[in-house]
Amino acid sequence: MYQPVRIAPSILSADFMNLGADIAMIEAAGAGFVHIDVMDGHFVPNLTMGVPLLKQLKAATSLVCDVHLMIDNPLTEIPWFIDAGADLVNVHAEALTADELVCAVAMIHEAGCKAAAALKPKTPVSALDPVIDRLDMALVMSVEPGFSGQSYIAGSDRRVAEVAARARAAGNESMLIQVDGGIGEVTAPLVAAAGADVLVCGNAVFKAPDPALALQTVQAAADVARLAALAGGEA
Ligand code: DX5
Ligand code: ZN
Repeated sequence: MYQPVRIAPSILSADFMNLGADIAMIEAAGAGFVHIDVMDGHFVPNLTMGVPLLKQLKAATSLVCDVHLMIDNPLTEIPWFIDAGADLVNVHAEALTADELVCAVAMIHEAGCKAAAALKPKTPVSALDPVIDRLDMALVMSVEPGFSGQSYIAGSDRRVAEVAARARAAGNESMLIQVDGGIGEVTAPLVAAAGADVLVCGNAVFKAPDPALALQTVQAAADVARLAALAGGEA
């Protein structure tokens, strides 16, 4: 059955002084996930949010809490984020050896959470190979991680298609593909047509004059492109 593209607003771009209202707004507007960008000042230069915020967020929303760990030591921190209420834990392949990546995914699954693995723009897609048969989601970064409000890196849609092909080849038909960075009304159709299922939006939603409308506009534009691509593929 056709699953519409889902939007995962990144609260890094939200109004921290009115976070509760922003969460209620994205929930009412039809967001699928809430995306939480955890940065440690080492894996990326920026330092953002962590466990205490996730705990309060989880208590305040029924949205899927999608935790994007941009940190050097995910194996140490995964249990903290699971205890705080993460529904989906997203680790970067670059922060782990292949064996550690396998271990991280197993740790997340054993705790009953969904596991995702993320790729920076220059990391070969093959870095996901050790776990691509069992991932719930792969995250293709379309900017260098670290900051919201950057421009989409052209060609990221080709990486989405490559990840989709590798997941299919590994027999993982249910794996979602998420894209993160510079996604808005213009870029969402590109990645959705290439096979993206979940689109992270920071500035395109929260910095828009009407954030709820922006969320719905990006989602609709992505869905139109995805349906057209699917129809083209079947023709
Ligand atoms: C970047 C973060 C993104 C970012 C998205 O490192 O992972 O989630 O906040 O923001 P926009 O959509 O503004 O690029
Ligand atoms: Zn992110």
